[in-house]
Amino acid sequence: MVQNWTPNSWRQKPIQQVPDFPDMAVLAAAEAQLATYPPLVFAGEARRLKSQLANVSEGKGFLLQGGDCAESFAEHGADTIRDFFRAFLQMAVVLTFGAQQPVVKVGRIAGQFAKPRSSNIEKQGDIELPSYRGDIINGIEFSEKARIPDPERQIMAYRQSAATLNLLRAFAMGGYANLDNVHQWMLGFVKESPQAERYRKLADRISETMDFMKAIGITPETNPNLRETDFFTSHEALLLGYEQALTRVDSTSGDWYATSGHMIWIGDRTRQADHAHIEYCRGIKNPLGLKCGPSLTADGLIELIDLLNPQNEAGRLTLICRFGHDKVAENLPRLIRAVEKEGRKVVWSCDPMHGNTITLNNYKTRPFERILSEVESFFQIHRAEGTHPGGIHIEMTGNDVTECTGGARALSGADLGDRYHTHCDPRLNADQALELAFLLAERMKGGRDEKRMVVNG
Ligand code: PEP
Ligand code: CO
Repeated sequence: MVQNWTPNSWRQKPIQQVPDFPDMAVLAAAEAQLATYPPLVFAGEARRLKSQLANVSEGKGFLLQGGDCAESFAEHGADTIRDFFRAFLQMAVVLTFGAQQPVVKVGRIAGQFAKPRSSNIEKQGDIELPSYRGDIINGIEFSEKARIPDPERQIMAYRQSAATLNLLRAFAMGGYANLDNVHQWMLGFVKESPQAERYRKLADRISETMDFMKAIGITPETNPNLRETDFFTSHEALLLGYEQALTRVDSTSGDWYATSGHMIWIGDRTRQADHAHIEYCRGIKNPLGLKCGPSLTADGLIELIDLLNPQNEAGRLTLICRFGHDKVAENLPRLIRAVEKEGRKVVWSCDPMHGNTITLNNYKTRPFERILSEVESFFQIHRAEGTHPGGIHIEMTGNDVTECTGGARALSGADLGDRYHTHCDPRLNADQALELAFLLAERMKGGRDEKRMVVNG
């Protein structure tokens, strides 16, 4: 048991990014209601993810984490979830093939609703309203009424998460993820893209391998690894009242787990060591993510690791680095060196999205070349330091949106207005996500060849 910790001990600490709920009694009632609901995930599943991440921290695997910046109540169709899952599986298969390593699959989904904001206020013309903080808190519509935080939304977010998770489990375990379907995961609009030919070639090779394996008696029917996949959920643990309500004791181990998702992470704006979000997260046993931005010092990071992973348990902590393409070279090496010097076990993951946001034609966007550049630097730096570039954390969708510029179809600033649907930050569309996966696969293959040369030489 973690010392001096309870699921509500965070309430004694200073806290950032708290919505202004108009009626605390209504909020307490919603939280009490949630506390009676079933868990969304099970402790055993979180442990399974942790053990997969432990392998990644030892250099044996790669973490693919991605999904919406903010899920929304409006976009909760089966097609959206299916298309996301297809795009995600395509990325995973490209990476598995490239790296010849297991890919740990974690969606930003089934709970990714609460958003930290840089400003409490949004101004349009002369009107100032409270900022939108995600569908779990208030509405995106620019009206006074919509922007009032409404605790009932937490119940809706819980129910949506349950429905989403139900479909994801069916996709992951019910045959959709069967490697025999590797050709069918291609999304309609990606079929016309420059990535299509590359993907088809790779899928052909996988199909050929499958045919060979079938010939020697290894089939999806006899081998679950070929027909099922582990797919885990994650979100930012921002709204702590919601998290607390879903924090439960695992009857097997007697430990506390967040049951709102398999993995939860701490955002870059809420990682103050003596504040509420760190306090909550240190007491639950799930795998944790910690966003690391430019303001994090090496000492500050070690202090946070001491709090979040005092036993130095492999797989417990993933450091999600989000510096920006122009800041990664100056910031990442000092953090890597501090972690190495102290012998801390972590997964290093690269979030090439949140440090690369710009405004173009009044749209928040991210140039694809900056995203690629941050990923490239992340890999190069890890190679130079002798550490494992263990994962990637991205905002993406299976829909054909126009939110990030660039990529093989060269989306321009003028295209952004066509299909700009995100509720918060700009996401890679499926085409761009696949392009990124191919690039990553090449880098990972490069690392493998280098290692071989060292062994042979
Ligand atoms: C996010 O992941 O959507 C986010 C807000 O990230 P960060 O905390 O790194 O800014
Ligand atoms: Co975001």
